[in-house]
Amino acid sequence: MTSPPSYNNDNYRFGGGPASEFPFVLKGRWEVVDRLGQGGMGTVYMARDLNLSTLSQQKKSAVVKELRDDFIRGEDKEKAREFFMREVNVLADLDHPNIVRVLDQFSENGRYYLVMEYVQGQNLHEMMTKRQEPFDEDMIIEWAAQICDVLTYLHTHNPPVIYRDLKPSNIMINTNDQVKLVDFGIARPFQESEDNTHVVSQGYSPPEQYWGAADPRSDVYALGATIQFLLTGQDPLALTTSCPQSLNPNASDHINDIVMRATNQDSDGRYQCAADMKDALIFRPEIVQPEKAKTLYVVLTSIICVGMFLGGLVILGKLQDQQETSTKEVKTLEEQRLDAKAMELNKQEEKLIKFKRLLREEMAGGKPKPAASQFGAFNGEVMPALEEQEESALTDPDGLK
Ligand SMILES: Nc1ncnc2c1ncn2[C@@H]1O[C@H](COP(=O)(O)OP(=O)(O)OP(=O)(O)O)[C@@H](O)[C@H]1O
Ligand SMILES: [Mg+2]
Repeated sequence: MTSPPSYNNDNYRFGGGPASEFPFVLKGRWEVVDRLGQGGMGTVYMARDLNLSTLSQQKKSAVVKELRDDFIRGEDKEKAREFFMREVNVLADLDHPNIVRVLDQFSENGRYYLVMEYVQGQNLHEMMTKRQEPFDEDMIIEWAAQICDVLTYLHTHNPPVIYRDLKPSNIMINTNDQVKLVDFGIARPFQESEDNTHVVSQGYSPPEQYWGAADPRSDVYALGATIQFLLTGQDPLALTTSCPQSLNPNASDHINDIVMRATNQDSDGRYQCAADMKDALIFRPEIVQPEKAKTLYVVLTSIICVGMFLGGLVILGKLQDQQETSTKEVKTLEEQRLDAKAMELNKQEEKLIKFKRLLREEMAGGKPKPAASQFGAFNGEVMPALEEQEESALTDPDGLK
């Protein structure tokens, strides 16, 4: 079993020297412009890529992490270098949107450097320090679900990687509310047979990590402990199952149950993988009812719509039938009217023929007789020529004019 390195903080040298020495250039490419922070393993600097001079400041930005070298014991220095190189190797092998990308790694003047993409944002610890109140539960669930995704990626990687240092200061949130895991200093490929180094973060590490037996469920524990911090603003108690409601009565039963299960002291009692924890996180009992109601509403609306459509078809059919019937009736009436007209015309034609015949007879007999008087008046409209004939028959019966 190995132990974490110890440092001589008095002798600690801040990377490239005092702030007044900025900027300085590393490897002829990385222009270090400011110090971003300092962690247990090293110093983190803001830098610019001189090879990308044509790009915008934002695109040229990078972060240089320098391994500290103020270790009292030579073996600690060696251990720290081993951790650092492991971080470099682990990170170089990973490719995930929620994991900070490695750009370069090198050593110069006996110091070790790792260059990463610059994450524009803050870590969750800084964010909590600024706001001084618990985060919104929906926001926490959104971040936690992203962390579950990245843990699932790590745990199913070949070989699996156990992060082992999940805690608010190692989780950055960028300006798009996207999670970025930084600091893979103690992450390492998981080999069950191997004696794992027992590096712990008080409150965030599960019991098994104290004796060097971390497995994927250890990261589940650390995520539960991180949620406890985000809901309460306080670091979780070491080696204790967390219960957010004991410090924040506004925490829902839903998230309280998840944190308690994730931080179970016995790894068998936790979610057995990050994907299971994500399922629990995104299953929201309070929105299941509205969801069900929504489904019911959609089904009912569909039934009503289909019913109305079919009903409409039936009504339309009936209307068409009625229309056809009334059209037939109209047609019959029209036919009757035409028949009557035809009969009337026939009668008038008969009268005309008879009238003509009488006229011929009278003219032949030389005895003029007012033919029209025998038949009565003819319809002027129908027979105007006949009226003329009738008139000439009266005034000129011999046709002499
Ligand atoms: N790529 C990055 N972009 C922006 N900021 C970063 C980046 N990497 C690290 N930081 C910032 O620097 C801080 C320290 O980085 P990191 O955790 O990697 O160092 P560390 O020495 O291992 O720290 P600790 O031991 O405290 O965890 C982070 O909490 C984060 O705020
Ligand atoms: Mg860190």
